[in-house]
Amino acid sequence: MGSESTNDILVHIEAGVMTITFNRVEKKNSISTAMYATMADALIQSDSSHAVRVVVFQGHEAIFSAGNDIGDFLNGPPSNEESPVFRFLHAISAFSKPVLAAVCGPAVGIGTTMLFHCDLVYAGDNAAFSMPFVNLGLCPEAASSLLVPQMMGYHRAAEALLLGEPFMAEAALEVGLVNRVLPPLETNSYTQAIAKRLATKPISSLIETKRLMKKGFTQTVKERMQEEGASFGRMLKEPAAKEAFGAFLEKRKPNFANL
Ligand code: COA
Repeated sequence: MGSESTNDILVHIEAGVMTITFNRVEKKNSISTAMYATMADALIQSDSSHAVRVVVFQGHEAIFSAGNDIGDFLNGPPSNEESPVFRFLHAISAFSKPVLAAVCGPAVGIGTTMLFHCDLVYAGDNAAFSMPFVNLGLCPEAASSLLVPQMMGYHRAAEALLLGEPFMAEAALEVGLVNRVLPPLETNSYTQAIAKRLATKPISSLIETKRLMKKGFTQTVKERMQEEGASFGRMLKEPAAKEAFGAFLEKRKPNFANL
C-alpha cells in the first residue's frame, strides 16, 4: 500500500505508521458514510499489511471531530451490521496493532467513543470531549455504555452519558482517557513521534501484548456494540432524534416537552 487519499479522509503510510486524518474542517470534521467506509477499508486492509505497524488518527488543531454527520443520520441512517459506521467500529475495536489518537478541540459523539478503542490518546489542552447521545434522543454506541463506566466509574460515566456535557482535556487525563495533555500545535507531532517509536518495536510483541491486555473483553465489547447498534438504529427513527436533528439543522433549541 502506498499513500492514498479521499476528499474528507486522508490516509498516508510512512515508515510503518498509517495516519488517518479527518479533513473536513468546514463541517467540523463530522463523519459521513463515505468517510466511515474509507476508514473501515483502511483499517481492514492494513491489519494484515506488513507496511503498517501502527495507526494514528488525527484531526485539525482546532477540531478533532463533530461526530456523525447529522444530515446522513437523517437521510441514510445505518440499517445493519454491514453499514460503514458499524464496519468502522468493528474494525477499530478489533484492530490488532497499536492505534493512537491526537485530539484537539471538540471530539463529539463517536469522536470521543472511538477513543475507547485506541491504545494511546494525546490531547491538546483545547480538547473537549462529549457524548451527547441523550441530548440527541439516542443511546450510547461503540460499546461506550460498557467502556465509559469501566474507565471512569459509574457516577462520572452517568454524568458524561446522561447529561452529555463536554469535559475538558485535564478531566480526561484524570479519568485515564488521555495519556498526556499538550499545546494544540504540538499534539499531532508528539503523537507522530510516539507512533514512530512504537513502529520500531517488534510487531509480534506489540500484537501479542495488545491481545493479552484486551483478552476477556473482546467478546463482551462486540456483544455490547451489537446491542447498542440495534437500539441506536431504532431510536434514530423515533420522534426525539428527529426533533434533535431537525433543531440542529434549523439552528434552534430542541423541544422534548412531549417526548
Ligand atoms: N453533522 C453535520 N454538519 C455538522 C456537524 C455534524 N455533526 N457538526 C457541525 N456541522 C456543520 C454545521 O452545520 C455548520 O455548517 P454550515 O456552515 O453549513 O452551517 C458547520 O459544520 C460549522 O458548525 P458550527 O456548529 O457552526 O460550528 P461551531 O464551532 O459553532 O460548533 C461544534 C462546533 C462541534 C460544537 C458544533 O458544530 C456541534 O455541536 N456539532 C454537532 C455535534 C453533534 O451533535 N454530533 C452528533 C453526535 S452523534
